[in-house]
Amino acid sequence: MHDLTGRVAIVSGAGSVGPGWGNGKATAVLLARQGASVFLLDINEAAARETAGIIEGEGGKCAVHRTDMLDSASVQEMVQACLDRFKRIDILVNNVGGSEPGSVETLSEEAWDRQIDFNAKTAFLGCKYVVPVMLAQERIGKSQGAIVNTASVAGIRVSGARPQVGYTASKSAVIGLTKSVAAAYAKQGIRCNTVIPGLMHTPLVEYRLARQIAGNDAEALIAKRNSQVPMGRMGTGWDVANATLFLVSDEANFITGTEIIVDGGFSCFGPGGS
Ligand SMILES: NC(=O)c1ccc[n+]([C@@H]2O[C@H](COP(=O)([O-])OP(=O)(O)OC[C@H]3O[C@@H](n4cnc5c(N)ncnc54)[C@H](O)[C@@H]3O)[C@@H](O)[C@H]2O)c1
Repeated sequence: MHDLTGRVAIVSGAGSVGPGWGNGKATAVLLARQGASVFLLDINEAAARETAGIIEGEGGKCAVHRTDMLDSASVQEMVQACLDRFKRIDILVNNVGGSEPGSVETLSEEAWDRQIDFNAKTAFLGCKYVVPVMLAQERIGKSQGAIVNTASVAGIRVSGARPQVGYTASKSAVIGLTKSVAAAYAKQGIRCNTVIPGLMHTPLVEYRLARQIAGNDAEALIAKRNSQVPMGRMGTGWDVANATLFLVSDEANFITGTEIIVDGGFSCFGPGGS
């Protein structure tokens, strides 16, 4: 099941902001375990190198590249470097992104622009420069290429408790981008889907959110986030990785333009929000 032997996968944001398993890091390791050669890109080369050490330690194949997904030239250079190294690109996981809190009154224009760029433009640039490569190559397996964009439940449901207008709008844009790419390339066999994580316990919680929204009280934030999920706990990077793996595998060959929500029931029930 989900055999990726011979496939080449690019994972953006393949490191993580702190020790532990971010969504991109877990996804990169899982794709390598399934036989893919994984091109690990990150703006923080050391973070990607840590992921590479894990993959290589397990006997997997990977390469590391420092890339800024906000910078078109850097993305183009990364795509060429992947081709130089692995000769093809079968899978693209656009995982870079993150939130800045704020309502229309409190979020600055600059922060709004940053949010749109960080979440939506990074995914756009990934698709823009990888799709032509996928179209031009000989197909391996049942798809010409498979793309997964990472959104967030913030893109499909709104928390009255803590507005994050830029994050909600930009993650909604990711869902729209996915559908648009899926429709445009369905005939040629490139599939594009979105994974929508809910409240996940990734290093981001301790290393950024605690400071940003919880006065540095990580324990209280973790307890609050756990209590907000109908299943009583946050998910992990592995939950996101497993959904992503399914969507890029041949087992999902008739699935395109849609979403898998990975949130323990968060988006279908109850008030609150992180
Ligand atoms: N953690 C959660 O609870 C959660 C929930 C919903 C959605 N998400 C989404 O999942 C994705 C990954 O989240 P995470 O918490 O695993 O990630 P993270 O914050 O740990 O970041 C992963 C990596 O992205 C890299 N990165 C940041 N900017 C970059 C850039 N411009 N170019 C290249 N690399 C860059 C970082 O250096 C880091 O190593 C994001 O899109 C996020 O919005 C996360």
